[in-house]
Amino acid sequence: MTGTGTLTTPLAKVWTKADLLDFIGANMKGVRLIVVSNREPYSHRHTDSGIQCMQPASGLATALDPVMRACGGVWVAHGSGNADREVSDEHGRISVPPDDPAYTLRRVWLDKQLEDEYYYGLSNEGLWPLCHIAYHRPRFTQRNWDSYRRANRIFADAILEEAAGEPAFVFIQDYHFGLLPRMLKNDAPNLLVAQFWHIPWPNRETLRAFPWKEELLDGMLGNDLLGFHLRYHCANFLNAVEREVEAKVDRAHAEITRGGKSTMVRPFPISIDFEWHNDASQGPEVESAIPAWRQRIGVMPEFLGIGIDRLDYTKGIPERLRAFDLFFENNPEYRGRVGFAQVGVPSRMEIGDYQEINNEIDREASRLNEKWGSGDYQPLHFFRGEYSQTQLMALHRLSNFCMVTPLHDGMNLVAKEYVASCFDEDGVLILSSFAGAAQELTDALMVNPFSTDEMANAILHAVTMTPEERHRRMRRLRTAIAENTIYRWAAKILMTLLRMDSAESGDS
Ligand code: G6P
Repeated sequence: MTGTGTLTTPLAKVWTKADLLDFIGANMKGVRLIVVSNREPYSHRHTDSGIQCMQPASGLATALDPVMRACGGVWVAHGSGNADREVSDEHGRISVPPDDPAYTLRRVWLDKQLEDEYYYGLSNEGLWPLCHIAYHRPRFTQRNWDSYRRANRIFADAILEEAAGEPAFVFIQDYHFGLLPRMLKNDAPNLLVAQFWHIPWPNRETLRAFPWKEELLDGMLGNDLLGFHLRYHCANFLNAVEREVEAKVDRAHAEITRGGKSTMVRPFPISIDFEWHNDASQGPEVESAIPAWRQRIGVMPEFLGIGIDRLDYTKGIPERLRAFDLFFENNPEYRGRVGFAQVGVPSRMEIGDYQEINNEIDREASRLNEKWGSGDYQPLHFFRGEYSQTQLMALHRLSNFCMVTPLHDGMNLVAKEYVASCFDEDGVLILSSFAGAAQELTDALMVNPFSTDEMANAILHAVTMTPEERHRRMRRLRTAIAENTIYRWAAKILMTLLRMDSAESGDS
């Protein structure tokens, strides 16, 4: 159909950005790529100094932006910036990046009620807790499901308009679009459709609670390729399909056939641009952002731990603060010597459960500081707000250990970013065994985030670890990430699609 036939690059190599661009140049001439996500890669906002273009702090946008720049395709996303309409044309299109236009951003407009019901309601009050199984009850209403369906339809129409009847690769991101693949395939069978589900896929017992599971599974089986982070999530998906819908499940090849159409299910663990993080964290910009953190923190403790999370109940932040309390109970000699800086990025605040988790974190933070603080010393510094990559790397640099302890997480790129910043191989990662990243980062101090004792012990281990052990663990962690970069993730998915494409057109 569209690709150049034989692939020119083998996968067993360390993938850099340049490698991916070479690969795209050699193999994807004539391929039209349409990426779809709810969150847009660039948004326009009114600010005091006029309209500003912002790039959301999202690993996904950072990863796919270079791919789109190289392919020059179309990215379809919800136009959520309050100045987006003013800068887009009558079809919602704008060329991005604004300073060096390389591809088209096609914005989809959703009214407030539809956004409330599709994005906050079904996606984030329904599917998010359902898939994360973090003991937050999911909420399902028919009204939200109808809006989810309607929003998926609006996206489908925008994509079909962009494809204009021609073949293209459509690469859909995440749980906001469970119904979209089937809609696209029904209307345009010449599209090659792939979806990556960035959050966990639950076991089939959990999925049973979802009232529209058959329709959701059928929607996702419209994909030619369906990706999850982990093999375990793929297996959960195969189990769910086997139980809930009429389909042939070929476990040996991880392939599902329904109504004569097949879907390949594959794990693609997402990652970061290791090289860029490693270089930038040693650069002058990061260096000059360090003093500001020293000032914010005030009296620097002997050991500084850090946490960086969206303020989300899946991230296990109150549990982490309770672990600090127990750590000080068990090891009072560390009072005054260990401190913790927690960055919390506000998220989805229209949802009650998110307001509650914010309140709970505030309560735990005050309790910890009242109980263990004295004089100038404060064990916890809580920074609620958005910080740039440069600022976060400066915080990495200042710290002795990092806690990434979600109750459940598809992957968690914070863990990988921290490791990439530890260029001197000196730092300790405490990692939840329920983060997808735990599969690769096996040299971290692994904890069960539901066990306060385990986490308190891990903090003690982090501050007493010998330099030899720190270096040995960190070196291995860094190798694991250097070998599996975000460019490898993108290349693997594109290669799989190219192979499927040439198999379909018979030129393999
Ligand atoms: C998770 C999801 C992404 C989402 C991100 C931020 O990582 O997998 O799809 O974009 O959270 O959440 P938000 O709702 O602000 O886009």
